[in-house]
Amino acid sequence: MKIISVVGARPNFIKVAPFIRAIEHHNRQYRAGLEHILVHTGQHYDVEMSSSFFKALHIPEADINLGIGSGSHAEQVGQTMIEFEKVLRAEKPDWIVVVGDVNCTLACSVTAKKECIKCCHIEAGLRSGDMTMPEEINRVVTDRVCDLLLTPDELSYENLRKEGMPEERIQFVGNIMIDTLEAEREKAKNLSIEHVVEENALVGRPDHALAISECAQMYGVMTLHRPSNVDSPLVLGPLMDFLCGEICSDMLLIWPVHPRTEKNLKKFGLWEKAIRTPNLILLKPIGYHEMLRLSMGAKIMLTDSGGLQEECCVLGTPCLTLRWNTERPVTLKEYGGASVLVGNSVNRIREEYRKALAEDKRPIRPKLWDGNTASRCLAAICGVSKL
Ligand code: UD1
Repeated sequence: MKIISVVGARPNFIKVAPFIRAIEHHNRQYRAGLEHILVHTGQHYDVEMSSSFFKALHIPEADINLGIGSGSHAEQVGQTMIEFEKVLRAEKPDWIVVVGDVNCTLACSVTAKKECIKCCHIEAGLRSGDMTMPEEINRVVTDRVCDLLLTPDELSYENLRKEGMPEERIQFVGNIMIDTLEAEREKAKNLSIEHVVEENALVGRPDHALAISECAQMYGVMTLHRPSNVDSPLVLGPLMDFLCGEICSDMLLIWPVHPRTEKNLKKFGLWEKAIRTPNLILLKPIGYHEMLRLSMGAKIMLTDSGGLQEECCVLGTPCLTLRWNTERPVTLKEYGGASVLVGNSVNRIREEYRKALAEDKRPIRPKLWDGNTASRCLAAICGVSKL
């Protein structure tokens, strides 16, 4: 059997790493059988956004890179479809596997389906209900066309059932991101926070040394990249005032800055403020282990990333999710998780921030977030109950 897995953007790499390991394990154990081709669409292309993840997570170099790069949504999706169709016609795989909700997830699943190739979606069934989010459109369309829908939790399974998907197409397998977290946890734990900060500082500042020496005691971490948070100065400006004026007077705030956010901070005239605020440390986009190390030790996480929401849940790090909705409700406090939705209203963020400061870490583990999801995914594709 020939399988093509597709990756394009940073969160995909974290999800595909354990899947590739499961294939290798299967081939060693049964001395045979699965031919695997890894296709990178090239949506994320910077060293920090892409190749550093391949290296750190021991993902073999992609067999094929489509070199799509940046562009509008239509450009990214359209060009990926054109190039991926050529790959499918040349390789004639039995299955393609897509993960997550990025532009290549949509582009490659639709292209495969039109070539009558079976298609599996890992992380199916997540729904925010917010069709203004590009990722939600990607999720809905991908799930509609895929033959095998592998869900990370029972709520996602129910979402698909309510949408009328036949049960034989759906399987609850658990969260594949947590396979990577469990495999890499020890390595991350051994990193020093000082080292992570020193190695990745975006702008060198003389007061970093003092701040870093104090940061082992209490620091927060922030990441922001969603268009709804970073594409308008009317949103990003007040957020910056709050972060710089309030959070940074309580504690050190470490912020690995996404390329989209860096561009917009500069465009909106907020960059100088960001680099000059005492107690705000800007980092380049950092590697997997470095991010995991920061998340483990943080007093609080402020983020609009879905993956970090899930990781904070398992690590027990209180997480303020800067969104009004989430496709991952299982991570929310009302379901026992560590995360609370705060949108981008400063009043709401302030209120929840104060509450979170008084909290202790309380790790929780939703059902089947056990580090063994990848082998269940492969078993589902191979049509067996267990490998
Ligand atoms: C994408 C995903 C999002 C995911 C995020 C993780 C979609 C619709 N969105 O958003 O779901 O959470 O990745 O990071 O697929 N850029 C660089 N270097 C890079 C990559 C991007 O400079 O290596 C720049 C691009 O030029 C662009 C901006 O960052 O201007 C945004 O990149 P894009 O791929 O459009 O989407 P993300 O915002 O990264």
